[in-house]
Amino acid sequence: VSEHRAPPIEHALHAINAHWVTSALAAAVTHRVFEFLEQGPAVVHDVAVGCNIAERGARALLDALVGADLVVQSDGRYENTAIASSYFVEGKPLYLGQLARLSLQLMTRSGGFPDAIAAGHSEGSLSVKADMPQWAQLVLATAPFSLPVAYLAAKLLGLAERRSLEILDPGGGAGVFAISFLKENPRATATQLDWPSVNRVAREQAERNEVLDRFRTVDGDLFAYDYESAKYDLIIFSHMAHGLAPADNQRAFVLFRRALKPQGVLLINELLAELDGSVSPQALLSSARTFYATRDGAGYRYAEYREWLNAAGFRSIARHDTGTPTTLLVVQVD
Ligand SMILES: C[S@@+](CC[C@H](N)C(=O)[O-])C[C@H]1O[C@@H](n2cnc3c(N)ncnc32)[C@H](O)[C@@H]1O
Repeated sequence: VSEHRAPPIEHALHAINAHWVTSALAAAVTHRVFEFLEQGPAVVHDVAVGCNIAERGARALLDALVGADLVVQSDGRYENTAIASSYFVEGKPLYLGQLARLSLQLMTRSGGFPDAIAAGHSEGSLSVKADMPQWAQLVLATAPFSLPVAYLAAKLLGLAERRSLEILDPGGGAGVFAISFLKENPRATATQLDWPSVNRVAREQAERNEVLDRFRTVDGDLFAYDYESAKYDLIIFSHMAHGLAPADNQRAFVLFRRALKPQGVLLINELLAELDGSVSPQALLSSARTFYATRDGAGYRYAEYREWLNAAGFRSIARHDTGTPTTLLVVQVD
């Protein structure tokens, strides 16, 4: 019968049960299970005692984590995989545990997703036009995500060799890009435009990285900022464009074009919704999150960026894969 030729049911169940991966991961992060296992392989009872959780809960959680490829088990002892060890043990530079917990929160609020799809918008999405307490939380949780990309961008742009470098980072968040670039080049200075609560977080990060003396923040809406013309060598726009409506991206690129010096660079770091296999499936999946969590945003295609950039007077655009779900666009004033 035709059912025998159907593709493996495993793939269908993977799609159906993906939310249990998020739930198990968030529970493990909450109860510091990966931190406990990082000390060495452990049996269920030891995990329950060490993490102060019920033994029944520990068993269910550990088995689910094996199913999710985050933990492996042999002879009754459970152990972190390399993924869990790199990304979910607090204190590691690429720690994404807070993002996992935020993902569970978003999941519990996304029951209305089918209705939102029909309506074209969701209730209670993050408004990018206001200072929301969630932003400060979100930018810290996502910061490790941008860290390797910022490092790659610094190398790509040869920032360490620049004699001087004036950087502007509209919507800089926790300041990952600007701070990485300031560390790369001791002659560089940076200005971040963001909401007050987020700028406070970024200044703390700058202080921790010993670059606060070259890191300035300006509180408020990036669209209301008085951009001085031909002032900046480099403008960063990272994880920003997908949250904005097309007209706002177009408007932002016009402002940036004017604010850049001749030969200046606009650096865009984004999740491109490319359907030709050139981006990670994670970039395409994030279109759903962007749709639900923002009022006007979308996963945009490279062709759309090119159109907005050309209309703003930019001609030279180079696209770089980052080895992560985001793509870098290096846009140069000619
Ligand atoms: C998704 S985060 C990106 C943060 C950072 N650029 C990064 O790549 O990690 C978006 C940031 O833009 C800020 N933001 C959004 N709309 C803004 C606006 N109109 N004016 C200033 N900042 C804004 C938010 O507060 C938040 O810090």
